[in-house]
Amino acid sequence: MNVVLGVGGGIAAYKAAELARLLMRQGLQVNTVLTHSAGEFITPLTFAALTGRKVITDLFANRSAEDILSSSVEHIQVAQENQVLVVAPATADLLAKFAHGLADDFLSTLYLAFTGPIVLAPAMNTNMWNHPATVANLSVLRARGHRIVGPDAGDLACGTVGPGRLADPEQIAAVVAAAALNKEDLSGEVVLISAGPTQEPLDPVRYITNRSSGKMGYALAEAANARGAQVILVSGPVHIPPPPGVEVVSVRTAHQMRDAIVGRMEEATIIIKSAAVADYYVSTVPASKIKKTAARVSLDLEPTPDILAELGSRKGDRLLIGFAAETSDLISESRRKMKAKKADMIVGNLVNVDGTGFESDLNEVTLVMATGETIPVARATKREIAHIIFDHALRLRLALHASQ
Ligand code: PMT
Repeated sequence: MNVVLGVGGGIAAYKAAELARLLMRQGLQVNTVLTHSAGEFITPLTFAALTGRKVITDLFANRSAEDILSSSVEHIQVAQENQVLVVAPATADLLAKFAHGLADDFLSTLYLAFTGPIVLAPAMNTNMWNHPATVANLSVLRARGHRIVGPDAGDLACGTVGPGRLADPEQIAAVVAAAALNKEDLSGEVVLISAGPTQEPLDPVRYITNRSSGKMGYALAEAANARGAQVILVSGPVHIPPPPGVEVVSVRTAHQMRDAIVGRMEEATIIIKSAAVADYYVSTVPASKIKKTAARVSLDLEPTPDILAELGSRKGDRLLIGFAAETSDLISESRRKMKAKKADMIVGNLVNVDGTGFESDLNEVTLVMATGETIPVARATKREIAHIIFDHALRLRLALHASQ
């Protein structure tokens, strides 16, 4: 599949090189168009070397007089041969041109000729972003159905702090990949996801936890957001940035996770419990540090609330997906958990396989469905697995409704 990467003239233009690399890693062929001012920030050679393809820099620059006279006009050809147009950074100037239909260079001309999905990743100074002209242009572009990714808030190159920073290239690439598959199939859904570990205090300085990094749950949140869902991500303590566009509710303990999830479940149409919730906790945490005096110490642990089971008993017609982290008997244990907790699907995760599961960027799972199917999903990135889970979840919901 081919995508056009349009690069606007802003300091974030250098990040478009990373975006090109990430898009190619998604299996997409990248054709780059640099605006004249983008060429002041980054050279065409960078993109040509990264993508192995010719870079377009100007409306007439790459064409001979013969080409111009031929019926094949390049911007029309590029529009026809590519499935997605992504513009990153989309400057205030480009947003204004697109909103008003100006066509005075290759990228703005291509925009008018392009009929496929369009992804815009704005980046600019905070005041420019907040200016009523930009706000109005954005609302025109949103109304046309373009996917707007970011901007993020933070320290900007101009010295100000606020919204305006280009979204994480990984996030932009995920939205482009979903757009390339033409997936808006979660639009209108509210997806509630739990991710990461919980921490159960033993005393003021120690706690019990597990190896969950949050990567699987965050990949699910990113995929749902890219496919048009509103996403609420209830996250235990992790060290990875939240996907832009996703509402994050941070919690620490299993009890806090339970309260956050149950408190938001009414809003959700799909609930996914990928968190590695501690099964036990200390109910009476001492106010001071446990001293190293005795030779042995015993912990008196009580079970934490089983959040998935509680959701199962109250889920109504919501689709409920749990995970099962197992070291043996994956299918039978996943099936047992699905029935006991009244889930519609369990993502069975063998967690003693090298290079997958906890902490890794990769995973390898088996989807155990309430319809009786079991679907093995071969080793892939957590982002890819997340999309596969949603593909099957939507199919499962149709099958469950049809059987009612
Ligand atoms: O975060 P990563 O590093 O990316 O790793 C991903 C993962 C390995 C954590 C993830 O893929 C995974 O397997 N998550 C489930 C971990 C787990 O707690 O499995 P379990 O078999 O113990 O629990 C079964 C289900 O019950 C899970 O949906 C769990 O969220 C839920 N549960 C468990 C205990 C509890 N008190 N309440 C729950 O809701």
